[in-house]
Amino acid sequence: MRILITGGSGFVGQKLCAHLHGQGHEPLVVSRSPERARGVLPPGTEVRPAVQDFAEHQPEAVVNLAGDSIAEGRWTAAKKQRLLDSRLSTTHAVVELCRQLEQPPRVLVSASAMGYYGDQGDREVTEDTPPHQEFVHELCARWEAAAREAEAYGVRVALPRIGLVLDRDGGTLAKLLTPFRLGLGGPLGSGRQYMPWIHRTDLVRVILFLLERDDLAGPFNAAAPEPVTNAEFTRTLARHLNRPAILPAPAPVLRLVFGEMARVLLTGAKMRPQRLQEAGLTFTYPTLDEALSDILGRR
Ligand SMILES: NC(=O)c1ccc[n+]([C@@H]2O[C@H](COP(=O)([O-])OP(=O)(O)OC[C@H]3O[C@@H](n4cnc5c(N)ncnc54)[C@H](OP(=O)(O)O)[C@@H]3O)[C@@H](O)[C@H]2O)c1
Repeated sequence: MRILITGGSGFVGQKLCAHLHGQGHEPLVVSRSPERARGVLPPGTEVRPAVQDFAEHQPEAVVNLAGDSIAEGRWTAAKKQRLLDSRLSTTHAVVELCRQLEQPPRVLVSASAMGYYGDQGDREVTEDTPPHQEFVHELCARWEAAAREAEAYGVRVALPRIGLVLDRDGGTLAKLLTPFRLGLGGPLGSGRQYMPWIHRTDLVRVILFLLERDDLAGPFNAAAPEPVTNAEFTRTLARHLNRPAILPAPAPVLRLVFGEMARVLLTGAKMRPQRLQEAGLTFTYPTLDEALSDILGRR
């Protein structure tokens, strides 16, 4: 299958492209830096700078992952605009391609995030839980709404609301490993906030599941069935690394350093993958212990 992937050069996209290539599919990657992207993608991957550049390829499916990094840098007004614009402009370009093609893609799997729900304290969060109004909710809601415009052209749209993606060579875990190995890890704020997470291999399986299953559309919580609090995450990671993790990062310090972005670290949602499990998806790594054993046990 010819699968157009925006943000295919990123942490999730690289793993997805490698997997699709291995299965005999043809990933078509949109990247602002094609040369750099080719260096991290399977040999022979077609990479072009804009969605529109792939019109002649007539993609049969689209996976939309592109977006400026949410967890990096202070959320100045300019950064917030970049977070929104980078997602909306790419998604609008995907919808425009669907409009133009005589034979639009069958399916669009368009990334969203746990941030859709905003801060939910310790209540159980399924796809039906009403969101808490705040910037991350607005960002995800507008991103999802933009993707759903493809439905007007007969495209099935699935929206994985992704939890913290875990693997060794990227994302948040890679950033945590050095301080934790030095014994400098510790809970963030009270540590009571939930951190829904997912092994990167399971996220690739979720995306494939949503690409393949013609009966699945709308939002899907894409996180392991056992979310943990930040304190549990901290304890479990420290245990796997045989290090203490007793140095807490107090909330006021995080707010001072990260500004409004500190909310991403200090709040969360106990998000369960209800719709994916009802649809029959099983997770290879349902518990954090299993995920970290795999990730940290690899050489
Ligand atoms: N990783 C997580 O824990 C996590 C959790 C929840 C949701 N998500 C969402 O899932 C998606 C994929 O995550 P990821 O971890 O793979 O992200 P990533 O590594 O940051 O990759 C995203 C890709 O988007 C492209 N991009 C970055 N800034 C852009 C901009 N201003 N305009 C257009 N494209 C831009 C980049 O590709 P080029 O430089 O090649 O153009 C980059 O490779 C993201 O949208 C992210 O928000 C991720």
